[in-house]
Amino acid sequence: MSPEQIPDLQDYGPEHLDAAFQRLSEQLAAEAPALHTPEDREQFRLHWLGRKHGRLKLISDAWLKTAPSEARKALGQHFNRLKQQIDLALETETVNGQARALEEDSVDITLPGIRPALGVEHPLVRTMIEIVGIFQRMGYSVGVGPEVETDYYNFEALNFPPDHPARDTQDTLVVAKQEHKPLRDRLLLRTHTSPVQIRTMERQPPPIRIVIPGKVHRNDAADATHSPIFHQVEGLCVDENITFSDLKGTLDHAMKELFGSSVKTRFFPSFFPFTEPSADVQISCIFCGGKGCRKCKHSGWIELLGCGMVDPSVFDSVRGKQPGYDPKKISGFAFGMGVDRIAMMKYGISDIGLLYSGDMRFLEQFA
Ligand code: DAH
Repeated sequence: MSPEQIPDLQDYGPEHLDAAFQRLSEQLAAEAPALHTPEDREQFRLHWLGRKHGRLKLISDAWLKTAPSEARKALGQHFNRLKQQIDLALETETVNGQARALEEDSVDITLPGIRPALGVEHPLVRTMIEIVGIFQRMGYSVGVGPEVETDYYNFEALNFPPDHPARDTQDTLVVAKQEHKPLRDRLLLRTHTSPVQIRTMERQPPPIRIVIPGKVHRNDAADATHSPIFHQVEGLCVDENITFSDLKGTLDHAMKELFGSSVKTRFFPSFFPFTEPSADVQISCIFCGGKGCRKCKHSGWIELLGCGMVDPSVFDSVRGKQPGYDPKKISGFAFGMGVDRIAMMKYGISDIGLLYSGDMRFLEQFA
């Protein structure tokens, strides 16, 4: 070890210790004013405090080894003071011969800031909220239900009997190893939001006005317009004297709110097990105004949702729990619409897969 690193120490008497540490302190004081850059400071720190080869470590190793026990306390105190002096030098800068506290990480407040990216509603969520809002303004409340549903709520209570061919159009994932259960209790991923109609009626007597937004699942091969996961908004209105005219007026108003007041609607006979009569609703093409274009296959109309008058057998499913749903006294209508399709039309999205891709280049366009 170089004598330059380890000062001589003839013995551990107080005056020798004082003198040795005095010299170290003077060396320190001479070096400190030359610390200008962060690199200077790091070098200085390593030189004095480095864990393996720092001077403090080398000196204390050398001296403590041979120090008599009565000198250890004084030696320790000297080292502590020296350490404090080094720390202080590291926190001090010398400007024009004046020592002052180092400004830590000074901030240049004239630099432009970093703007944090704000999250935005996903286009599907935005569309769902918009649709729900239209019905809320007509006095509807909002409900939700489970995505993992029983066969009973998804099918049976909605008048899809076991083995009924209408089930084929709504194939889905079923939870495994349930063969021991009765069919009605077996779990599946719901294929539509209609089961929440049943759950709502079981819980509350008529009158009901409710919309139910949510995610649904079907065994559909993915392409530009199909996704095995998609979203629906279901609607249910039950009261005395609800008629098909109420259904038409409600949906016509909702479509005008959603796509603009010049949009027209028309109703075609259709089939759903849970409504009778059932209808498909078409709106005049929002792209060509009804003249005919590629989007509407030159028909001037776009099919958008299903609806109908609630089938009495659906009311029968809930009468055990809510006797108020007596088809002789009340009637109702229901409807269901695909949110993805509506979002794609509203925002000009050509591939449904984009809604599920998580691709920031797509999503950022909605910011
Ligand atoms: N649940 C139907 C489907 O997913 C949509 C639907 C049609 C819902 C008619 C309704 C309705 O409530 O009355 O295809």
